Amino acid sequence: MTTGHVPVPRHVVWGEIGAARFPVCIGPGEITNIGDLWIERRVGDAALVVFDGAVAALAQAVEDRLRAAGVRVVPVAVPPGEPSKTLQELERICRVAAQRGIRRTDAVVAIGGGVIGDLAGFVAASYQRGIKLVHVPTTLLAMVDSAIGGKTGVDLPEAKNYVGAIWQPQFVVMDPDVLAGLPPRELACGFAEVVKYGLLDSSELFARVEAWPAPLPGEPAALVELIRDCVAHKLNVVSQDELEQGLRASLNLGHTVGHGIEAAAGYGRYHHGEAISLGLLAALRIGHELCGAPVTWRSRTAAILTRHGLPTQLAADVPTDDILDAMARDKKASATSFNMVLVHEPGTVVLRQNPSRELVVAAIEELR
Ligand SMILES: NC(=O)c1ccc[n+]([C@@H]2O[C@H](COP(=O)([O-])OP(=O)(O)OC[C@H]3O[C@@H](n4cnc5c(N)ncnc54)[C@H](O)[C@@H]3O)[C@@H](O)[C@H]2O)c1
Ligand SMILES: [Zn+2]
Repeated sequence: MTTGHVPVPRHVVWGEIGAARFPVCIGPGEITNIGDLWIERRVGDAALVVFDGAVAALAQAVEDRLRAAGVRVVPVAVPPGEPSKTLQELERICRVAAQRGIRRTDAVVAIGGGVIGDLAGFVAASYQRGIKLVHVPTTLLAMVDSAIGGKTGVDLPEAKNYVGAIWQPQFVVMDPDVLAGLPPRELACGFAEVVKYGLLDSSELFARVEAWPAPLPGEPAALVELIRDCVAHKLNVVSQDELEQGLRASLNLGHTVGHGIEAAAGYGRYHHGEAISLGLLAALRIGHELCGAPVTWRSRTAAILTRHGLPTQLAADVPTDDILDAMARDKKASATSFNMVLVHEPGTVVLRQNPSRELVVAAIEELR
């Protein structure tokens, strides 16, 4: 009889978005396969490895694997955090690429959370009018959300994510082992998006999310399957609506009110996932009032969020009027957000035109 641990199987989900077809490889230790994937996918001769300074050791491991596969590596470290998602940083990275002879046939490798994925993804989309891209997301949020779907870009001082492009990768490598070093608050923020997928996808996924034990991230084999199912959900939606003309807007569940809270509280006070935690509860309340969604989905969701350290109560000093103003600005900025995403029950999504101000106010006030 053999004892010891059973190896966790890797999972590969294929993305098919527009003309792009690419594998998303998920598994513990998956980083070590990057050289083989690079060769299999014929990615190019050189790699511009753009990495978050907080994951330098991981980036080093990726670079070693790429060099072993015969790839010329040009590393560029980026300071951690949203302030790096700028046109200035884009220019700096593109100039390093130019100085170091990165060509049209080479590729960008993005190693980090959503900040690096968005920034380096936009380098890939714009440098020499577009070169290949490989995503190596290192936060839970980046794995289940930002590394999938092709949205890339940077912030302007005036507004977030205002300059960018849609650009799909050659492949994506997700190694849940890297989440071990992620601060608990960041893990929880990623989990808020996982809760969103539970609500959007099915009662089956919701039940698994509901049963997910604290502390995060949880047991490796189950985690790989959880990430796989969130990725598959997003890929399926985006494959039907890459440019967000309809269905893709469903991924904004919890984000209408959530963005309003994030902005009204002042960026940074609530992390994105924390604002989404509150936004999901508001959306479930509005879904109850507008579509008769059983109110139990709200209370069950609140229990999940609480268990994982996400907020279910909004600070008294964030005025409801400021949240509504921020939502109105958000709405003007994007034609698609005129629809509010609601859920009748997990897996049954309803899009509704602007719900009344009273309903939204009541849903926000319930969070106090
Ligand atoms: N493109 C999209 O579709 C999409 C979707 C959602 C969010 N986003 C963007 O993603 C960004 C947020 O992403 P995020 O939450 O991953 O934030 P992030 O990239 O800032 O990472 C969060 C923090 O974790 C650190 N970190 C990253 N990986 C780590 C690891 N393995 N171990 C230890 N520390 C690690 C980072 O240095 C940072 O301090 C925002 O800019 C948002 O606009 C994009
Ligand atoms: Zn989000």
